[in-house]
Amino acid sequence: MEEYVNRTQLQEFENNVINLYRDKQSPLMQILQESQKLYGCVPFEVQNLISNELNISTAKINGVVSFYSMFSLVPSGKHIIGVCTGTACHVKGAQRLVSRVEDALDTHYGETTEDGQFTLAHTRCVGDCSKGAVVMIDDKMHSKVTSDNILDILEPYRKQ
Ligand code: FES
Repeated sequence: MEEYVNRTQLQEFENNVINLYRDKQSPLMQILQESQKLYGCVPFEVQNLISNELNISTAKINGVVSFYSMFSLVPSGKHIIGVCTGTACHVKGAQRLVSRVEDALDTHYGETTEDGQFTLAHTRCVGDCSKGAVVMIDDKMHSKVTSDNILDILEPYRKQ
């Protein structure tokens, strides 16, 4: 299993984060948020450390990390691609877009490419249904996206 946080970072996390929150009421969420902020994720090695230090089972910690969409187990890519899969965009071919992006980037929905450049994130209605299919790339919205133009839209982000 890939490690995202090394031993020195874990030691710093214990000293600077866990020790700061351990005596507070319900410290788990705050500690998880700090990990997400610092490392872009809450990887298993951080969960294990928290488990040992706070005496909370890793199953419980993992359950919290999995439940809240603000936490992830692996760092997000440099660019986040959000193909809207809401009903209106679904009708306009969102699933074809997802497949096209998965094939082009050799990744899967909800995962990050091996080079860390892109995360293909689960995305529901972003509120611009009349312009579907809608694809968010980072905070920029692209409207009327089709399986013919999606790769052209992605191209500039491959180099950034
Ligand atoms: S369903 Fe895609 S923007 Fe609303």
